[in-house]
Amino acid sequence: MSTLLHQLPRLLKVKAPSPIISTLIHRHNYKSKSHILLPLSTSISNAASAATTTRSIATQSVVRAAAASPPTAPPIMVKAIRVHELGGPEVLKWEDVEIGEPKEGEIRVKNKAIGLNFIDVYFRKGVYPVSTIPFTPGVEAVGEVIAVGGGLTGRKVGDIVAYCMNPMGAYAEEQILPASAVVPLPPSVDPIIAASVLLKGLTAHYLLRRCFKVEPGHTILVHAAAGGTGSLLCQWANALGATIIGTVSTEEKAIQAKEDGCHHVIIYKEEDFVSRVNEITSGQGVEVVYDSVGKDTFQGSLKCLKPRGYMVSFGQSSGTPDPVPLSALSPKSLFLTRPLLRHYTETREELLKAAGELFANVSSGLLKVRVNHKYSLSQAAQAHADLENRRTSGSVVLIPDAAW
Ligand SMILES: NC(=O)c1ccc[n+]([C@@H]2O[C@H](COP(=O)([O-])OP(=O)(O)OC[C@H]3O[C@@H](n4cnc5c(N)ncnc54)[C@H](OP(=O)(O)O)[C@@H]3O)[C@@H](O)[C@H]2O)c1
Repeated sequence: MSTLLHQLPRLLKVKAPSPIISTLIHRHNYKSKSHILLPLSTSISNAASAATTTRSIATQSVVRAAAASPPTAPPIMVKAIRVHELGGPEVLKWEDVEIGEPKEGEIRVKNKAIGLNFIDVYFRKGVYPVSTIPFTPGVEAVGEVIAVGGGLTGRKVGDIVAYCMNPMGAYAEEQILPASAVVPLPPSVDPIIAASVLLKGLTAHYLLRRCFKVEPGHTILVHAAAGGTGSLLCQWANALGATIIGTVSTEEKAIQAKEDGCHHVIIYKEEDFVSRVNEITSGQGVEVVYDSVGKDTFQGSLKCLKPRGYMVSFGQSSGTPDPVPLSALSPKSLFLTRPLLRHYTETREELLKAAGELFANVSSGLLKVRVNHKYSLSQAAQAHADLENRRTSGSVVLIPDAAW
């Protein structure tokens, strides 16, 4: 109220306490998000009368606004994380946001679990551009359908669905999604497990099965082998019959990487991984490097490859690698790719096929999903800080506070 009192003369474009015969007051109508201009006749002679006047303005505005427009349903508000400026974890704010009703082809989903991914950090910092600010981060979640828009969505209220990548906005209690973006969740897969594995598991799928096809007899190098994506890459590649060399930063992570099927683990903070790969492969090198670390490992990774080897640079947890001249590839006729998941799940058919294979491997136990860290959704900033500071291993999930 005191803020309003101080702003009143400016709003009224007069110097209080001089009398005002007639002016206009601007009142924001929260529901319709329109602005209504109402006539006002009054005078302000001191702060006390201004307070009274302000109260009466508010009352008058409500009455007249109600008379002018038909009643509308109250907005549906949910809690969500919002980013108003790019920066560190502290820019992740816990706020009330309005959510609409699903339109044609859309569904409204009440999230049960939200996957945390390194790409969320890139968007928050501005490494990858966002289309609007403020925005709600998050590109992976599992939830229950609670409303369905018009048209053929193929979904009904009560379905449990999972999605990843598009659209952004998963750090919310509820969100509106295109029905075509979600995949049904088999009852054998727990929602928290699904939110921990969908994006990272689809990534492991395309990296091992399509980007470079790993076969028995191959030797492969996986950086950040104890990370969310790394853990799945190692398990899956092991099942495909490859020999796996993994890099990690700590002894604790080395133990996990071994459990996940790494045949050799290098602690790359202490050992030179290029020399170690050379030793392990008797100077032959590896068929493929899956490099998600980027700046710190990229050049060394090229050195670990066999002639005609594949450099798959799929992330940059340590920063963007320096530009590579084409001539860097010719000494060993190397292949270099910088792939993105979305280009391997462009069609609905591709998405459903890959998700089906992934969930089948989770259900059969071939892939053990390590949900090593859970945070309530409102604590997303802490989760980001831990992920960025290499304090996490396996997958990290955010649980909406009501279910926490
Ligand atoms: N292109 C795609 O389609 C695609 C899809 C999914 C993920 N990705 C990328 O894959 C990478 C892994 O994602 P994720 O969500 O599974 O994360 P994550 O691997 O669980 O976490 C990142 C890990 O990177 C390692 N790392 C090395 N240097 C680091 C540094 N300077 N700062 C922070 N971490 C560092 C750390 O492991 P150590 O402590 O063992 O070094 C850390 O735990 C990310 O770069 C992500 O963008 C790409």
